Amino acid sequence: MAAPARKPMIAGNWKMHHNHFEAIQLVQKLGYRLERDDYDRADVVVCPPFTDLRSVQTVIESDRMHIQLGAQNCYWEAQGAFTGEVSAVMLAKLNVRYVIVGHSERREVFGETDDMVAKKVRAVLGQGMTPILCVGETLEEHEAGGTDAKVSGQLRAACAGLKSDDVAACVVAYEPIWAIGTGRNATPADADATIGVIRSTVREIAGDVADGLRILYGGSVKPGNIAELMAMPQIDGALVGGASLEADDFARIVQFGH
Ligand code: 13P
Repeated sequence: MAAPARKPMIAGNWKMHHNHFEAIQLVQKLGYRLERDDYDRADVVVCPPFTDLRSVQTVIESDRMHIQLGAQNCYWEAQGAFTGEVSAVMLAKLNVRYVIVGHSERREVFGETDDMVAKKVRAVLGQGMTPILCVGETLEEHEAGGTDAKVSGQLRAACAGLKSDDVAACVVAYEPIWAIGTGRNATPADADATIGVIRSTVREIAGDVADGLRILYGGSVKPGNIAELMAMPQIDGALVGGASLEADDFARIVQFGH
């Protein structure tokens, strides 16, 4: 039986950039720049900071745009005495569809552990949203040949105890830490090979749903390298940082190969 087709996804992670005024402008520009066909070819997602979500949601819904809304993080409890946190329940109320979980900046700068990442994945799934689960190795691990062990270990920890259907409802993003914001992207062949390892690990965890699972690459994706990355058989899309902050660059990435 042929493997199910995987619709490409291009997701922009704005990180801590753009206030809500700038966010509105950027999404409106993207709306002008992208054509109906672009959304047919790829799911287009933007993940602004929390303070922008309501504004961006309103623009998307009032202009009936096909851009989908994502968030960059969440907390696993629904509510309570957790000063400064935002729950998955609150995000779902804003029609957020995707939540980035376990980004390397959360793990490295804010001390998120595999256990916290696993709880967040469950909280996001529990609200009917899609976690974009990030995995990736440091430069040291990369140079020591530890990439495969690192990404498989992160994946197993995040998915421990999940049913196959839950794993199928996730998106995974492979983001080598040494390629984030450095201008140094993994070669398409290397990224493809590691994503192949991730897919094999998913197969061990959850069986055939691995064939339909979307696995993105992230790390210095630009208009100039997206086409060669997307040409690889295992790479289903991109999680884009810096180049998602400008409508023109991000649109050119969405329109890869056209
Ligand atoms: P850059 O595209 O800026 O390297 O960021 C990648 C990233 O971390 C996306 O989540």
